[in-house]
Amino acid sequence: MARERLDVSAIGEMIELVAKNGAISFAAGEPSADMLPTGLLSAAFEGVFEDASLLGYYSSHLGHSGLRGWICDWMRLDGLAPDWVKPENIMITCGSQEGISLAGEALIDPGSYVLVESPTYMEALLSFRKQGATCIGVPIDEGGIVVEALDGVLKRYKARFLYTIPNFQNPSGNTATAERRKEVLGVLRKYDVPLIEDDPYHYLSYDGEPPATYLKLAGDDGRVAYLGSFSKIVAPGVRCGWMAVPDSLMPQIESLRVNSCLGLPVFVQHGLLNMLASIDMPGYIAKLRSAYRVRRDGMLGALGAHLGGAGLSHNRPAGGFFIWGRLEGIGDVMDFARFAVAREKIGIIPGSVFFAPGEEDLSSIRFSFAKVDATSAEEGSARLAKAISAYLSR
Ligand SMILES: Cc1ncc(COP(=O)(O)O)c(C=O)c1O
Repeated sequence: MARERLDVSAIGEMIELVAKNGAISFAAGEPSADMLPTGLLSAAFEGVFEDASLLGYYSSHLGHSGLRGWICDWMRLDGLAPDWVKPENIMITCGSQEGISLAGEALIDPGSYVLVESPTYMEALLSFRKQGATCIGVPIDEGGIVVEALDGVLKRYKARFLYTIPNFQNPSGNTATAERRKEVLGVLRKYDVPLIEDDPYHYLSYDGEPPATYLKLAGDDGRVAYLGSFSKIVAPGVRCGWMAVPDSLMPQIESLRVNSCLGLPVFVQHGLLNMLASIDMPGYIAKLRSAYRVRRDGMLGALGAHLGGAGLSHNRPAGGFFIWGRLEGIGDVMDFARFAVAREKIGIIPGSVFFAPGEEDLSSIRFSFAKVDATSAEEGSARLAKAISAYLSR
């Protein structure tokens, strides 16, 4: 099973090539190093070990109760969660990635069908495949999942669940409109299909708040499991996220936790809680938003200035880390990406890696602006333009 189903991430190859070539990277989907709250975290972790009860015994399988309570209050305060979400419905995870994996393990049998957005987050495809699922892509546009297409796919396939990233999607940058979310829920109710809502970019909105979550919109119907993460707003290195899980699914998720590792390190969760409880959260988020907004606008400006005439079209995301584009006339962008990183030392991620097998769009391309300042955006876009003309005149 391991040999057949465990694929490595093609993004890893590009990240390695970027490092090997000393290239400017438009590839990495991580927060910028200068945005990591290292000072706050270091102060927050001081004193964590004074409480021996954190280290001396196995604590709740669900994770640190204080952090679960904080998350629950925070989601309620921000209107993300309906009333049924209590601390007992929150499971701390090793990032949103583990939430994807746990949800998949709980709901997939070998041969099951899982619906994903087309394109979608590549590591979710790998994770569902590991469980033996066949992923079926549902087209998305600037407003989210195309509802008629979802209905058509559900007519043909009895799917275990739909996996969606509704806000500032990775890789497309698209956000589902409020209207579309309601329509999608309507279709899921019609076919009685659950939904996994992966929302790690929720707080990184640059042009106003995102629409209500699926979790909130679904109310009491127990159809939605929500995945959150501290990776993009605190640091991916803390490996801390959470799931908000309906009562009907929680026993299975908890059993999977016990069967895999009993529980995650609570002293990390305690340190993180110390940090979260010590800051003005809205002010902290507002700073992240304004810093990343500048980076988004810098990258959009640079791409427009250098690549507008080179066959690139792209969108304007309202948040998150990613701009999605298409490069006409290049053929397979994967081949071009390998050429560009070696020849002009600019790293990009070919969009084809974000599609279910057999559904790839070979002309698509993902740009990440999170770690790219204005100078690198200019220089990187100029290099990309040079790489395109060199590639076309080979
Ligand atoms: C859509 C999506 N889900 C999950 C993850 C994994 O994040 P985490 O660090 O919380 O595991 C990422 C990271 O890039 C992502 O883009």
